[in-house]
Amino acid sequence: MADRKPLISGNWKMNHNHFEAIQTIQKLAYALNSEDYDAVDVSVHPPYTDLRSVQTVIQSDDVPVALGAQNVHQAESGAFTGEVSSSMLQKLDVAYVIVGHSERRELFGETDEVVNEKANAVLAAGMTPIVCVGETLDERQGDQAESKVASQIAGSLAGLSAETVGDLVVAYEPIWAIGTGETASSEDAQQMCAHIRSLISDQWGAAAAGSVRIQYGGSVKPSNAPELMGQADIDGALVGGASLDADDFARIVNFRLYQT
Ligand code: 13P
Repeated sequence: MADRKPLISGNWKMNHNHFEAIQTIQKLAYALNSEDYDAVDVSVHPPYTDLRSVQTVIQSDDVPVALGAQNVHQAESGAFTGEVSSSMLQKLDVAYVIVGHSERRELFGETDEVVNEKANAVLAAGMTPIVCVGETLDERQGDQAESKVASQIAGSLAGLSAETVGDLVVAYEPIWAIGTGETASSEDAQQMCAHIRSLISDQWGAAAAGSVRIQYGGSVKPSNAPELMGQADIDGALVGGASLDADDFARIVNFRLYQT
């Protein structure tokens, strides 16, 4: 897996109030040890209302889990009722921000252009975007998965420097595999992640392609994580449902202990 350190991220979506969030991060801290953190980077992405509570646990208990957000607004400040800016997240020690999740794209109309603006806002505040891409079932069945992902990569990462792209995280999440229990086969997931890496190599060069971390997301569970994570171009996982339970998530973080 080259020398890219895997990043396992828990996207809690709209789950866990701040009391439940505190319990979950405390349980997770209990379940992981320093060897685990040496092998894998870990981030959790609670809802906005939980961020301050989770930050406090991480800081006071010295937990080496990175704090993440699920979304951000692209503007720095202003009349955007209900939105949160990247500098607000950065003040809470947020390190990673998911941008362009398929639920944002599909349910809230985010285009590649907006995703690109959000990625730039995250970078300007000194945080790392996790840029999500992925095709629908129709696109996969119509043999358009690769072209859809290619256009999302070109649009979402437009204008970024090679150095910046090399430090990014890209998450490949086939929409048909999200929350359905349906996982892409390891071969299909590997093939698309390799495709993404070659697109990045073509546009931003071999160094950026060699260092960008590419996560797979879509029904990742303790049972399928070891095989998925064993693929050459899969450098991590973006986990939804299974990240809500600290023990399940810890088992995914510890995929290396279950690899044959
Ligand atoms: P599930 O793991 O619940 O399929 O969700 C995947 C996802 O969308 C993570 O961002």
